[in-house]
Amino acid sequence: MTKICCIGAGYVGGPTMAMIAKKCPEIQVTVVDINEQRIAAWLSDHLPIYEPGLAEVVKEALGRNLFFSTEVDRAIEEADIIFVSVNTPTKTFGEGAGCAADLQYWELCARRIRAISTTNKIIVEKSTLPVRTAEAMERVLHSGDNPVHFEVLSNPEFLAEGTAIADLEDPDRVLIGGHDTPSGQAAVRKLVDIYATWLPREKILTTNVWSSELSKLTANAFLAQRVSSINAISALCEATEADVTEVANAIGKDRRIGSKFLRASIGFGGSCFKKDILNLVYICETYGLQEAADYWRQVVLLNDYQEARFVKKMLKEMFNTISGKRIAIFGFAFKANTGDTRESPAIRVCRALAAERAKLVVTDPQAIDNAKLELPELLGEIEFEEDPYKAAEGAHAIALLTEWPEYKELDYEKIYASMDKPAFIFDGRNLLDHKKLFDIGFEVYSIGKELRSHLK
Ligand code: NAD
Ligand code: UGA
Repeated sequence: MTKICCIGAGYVGGPTMAMIAKKCPEIQVTVVDINEQRIAAWLSDHLPIYEPGLAEVVKEALGRNLFFSTEVDRAIEEADIIFVSVNTPTKTFGEGAGCAADLQYWELCARRIRAISTTNKIIVEKSTLPVRTAEAMERVLHSGDNPVHFEVLSNPEFLAEGTAIADLEDPDRVLIGGHDTPSGQAAVRKLVDIYATWLPREKILTTNVWSSELSKLTANAFLAQRVSSINAISALCEATEADVTEVANAIGKDRRIGSKFLRASIGFGGSCFKKDILNLVYICETYGLQEAADYWRQVVLLNDYQEARFVKKMLKEMFNTISGKRIAIFGFAFKANTGDTRESPAIRVCRALAAERAKLVVTDPQAIDNAKLELPELLGEIEFEEDPYKAAEGAHAIALLTEWPEYKELDYEKIYASMDKPAFIFDGRNLLDHKKLFDIGFEVYSIGKELRSHLK
């Protein structure tokens, strides 16, 4: 029986391993983590992450061939294949601080694997890593006098939160990078065979290790770049009475451009876009490619600008003062269908509004617990309220920051009646029916569209 160990039971490790276990009942999959609470949550009815469809997939395989454990060493020793899916955040100290990827968690894993292993193993980079990390890992794994052979593969993950299960079930592609050596190619074949259990082989791309590592950073950079591009256009739309949704639709019909990732917004969030682009910037700089680095950095700068522009607009439209005004924040997650709040634009927007002394009430269907952790300095000042109707009661404004579909279905006449007047809505996701809201009586501000105001 093939035994897989996955180190890191997070947003990637948990769902990807649950899917492999579901599809391959003959493989034993053990997901390990040093975070005891997280492992306990995977074994409970309250999974540590909210992801539609995940609970069913976990339930099907848990205890059969899917295991969660804190016994890292034991799982390493028993495994034929070890996926490493630990976090790779932006470095906050020393050389490359604020830009480079912090590889300490990955390296600790490599050292542990080297110390524990007594049989040959395939080591799979599942985390997103700088190009050529595999080289450093191979050095760490093969240093000392352990005769064990480790074959390092790159197999980056492309799932998006909120649609992780659908993405794993039917991905656009799976990417596997391996060395062009007999042992490298044998390892690639072994991993290809696992994915081929449920995916057509033509969807499984194989490349050299460096192309695979770099493709992951490039994919995220391109996706984020599209969001920044349309957001740059949204600013121009507001100045010219063009409508960004109409522009996005018009250009998206061009099959060379395509229609995805052209939704103007308050900006992209999430744990990866910003960190991966900054990492790309750092790598370009390391190779002396300053112009390439500057090009990609601009994607992040534009995102910062878009967030700041939104707050400025709120302030300006609300008569240049929001001090003491109650503002209901509709949605704190970085996107809909997830409870994840990492790098959510809501964090910075709330901080900026609180700095103006607004009284904030945050509501979100899934992310209230995480929201509290993101704003420790404001606890006690900010209210958290599960019911959006209660959050809006007596408010001067609603700022919609996450495109939860349920926010579309709310009774806005009832909400309007309960708010202070003039009642403002700032739709940071262009989710709502703006004309209808305006007709109800709201002052409506959206992204890249005309301002609908009764006051002008
Ligand atoms: P995460 O923080 O949710 O999970 C990482 C887990 O690794 C944590 O639970 C942590 O406790 C554990 N860990 C860290 N060091 C460990 C060690 N030495 N031993 C055992 N466990 C250890 O992170 P994530 O969102 O799952 O992301 C993991 C990687 O996947 C990152 O490189 C990220 O860029 C990449 N990625 C993430 C997504 C996503 O949607 N979140 C998608 C694609 C790729
Ligand atoms: C993204 C990628 O889509 C995944 O392929 C990748 O695996 C993952 O990053 C990763 O490496 O972590 P994710 O961050 O979960 O996935 O979510 P996205 O759907 O990409 O959205 C990212 C951010 O961009 C969100 O804040 C979203 O609201 C925003 N966005 C997205 C827009 O503002 N407009 C759009 O048109 C699309």
